[in-house]
Amino acid sequence: MDIENIKKELKLEIDKERYNHTLRVVDIAKRLALVYRIDEKKVELAALLHDCGKYKDIDVLLKKVEEFGIILDIISKNNHHLIHSHLGAEIAKKKYDIVDEDILNAIKYHTTGRRDMSILEKVIFIADYIEPERDFDGIEDIRKLAFEDIDEAIIVSMENTIKYIIDKGLLIHPNTISTRNSLILLRNKNRRSWSDRQ
Ligand SMILES: [Fe+2]
Ligand SMILES: [Fe+2]
Repeated sequence: MDIENIKKELKLEIDKERYNHTLRVVDIAKRLALVYRIDEKKVELAALLHDCGKYKDIDVLLKKVEEFGIILDIISKNNHHLIHSHLGAEIAKKKYDIVDEDILNAIKYHTTGRRDMSILEKVIFIADYIEPERDFDGIEDIRKLAFEDIDEAIIVSMENTIKYIIDKGLLIHPNTISTRNSLILLRNKNRRSWSDRQ
C-alpha cells in the first residue's frame, strides 16, 4: 500500500486527534531521519503507522487483539496504553502489507522501547515523545537533545516515564527498564573508550 492509500485508510480507522498527532510525528521523525541518516521512506512508513492500533474504545481494542491472535504479556494486559503498539505492529503487517522487520519493531516498541533498539526504533520513539503538542517540564531540553544525542534524549525520557509511573502507582514494563539500562551501559562503554584514547 502506498503512503496516500495508507493515509486514507488511517483516517477511517483512528480518530482525528490521533491522526493529526500522527502527522506531527511523521514530520519530526523525517527531520530526525536527516540527522541520523536513515531512509526517509522507512521513517515515514513507521511514523505514519506507529499508532495505527490506537483504538479509543477499549472494547474495540481488545476485540482486535483477539482477532489478530495477539498474546500479551501480563504487564501489557494490565495497561491498555501498552496494547496499541503490539496491535499496531500486527495491523501494519497484515493490513498495510509492511514486511520490513525494522519498521514493524519500531511500531511494536514505540511505547516501552527495548534493549539495543535500532536507530529507526529510537527515532520513532523519541519523535512520538517530543512532537510539538507535547508539553511538560523539561520538554524543550529533550527536543534539543533528540537532534544532538538521541540516546541521551531517550535516557531522560525513560527516567521521566519511570518517575511518572511510580508517582501514579502504575506497573513498569521491563522493556522500559531494559531500554534505560542498555543505553547507560552503552554510554559508559563509549566514555571508557574515549578516555582510553586520551
Ligand atoms: Fe502510541
Ligand atoms: Fe503516538
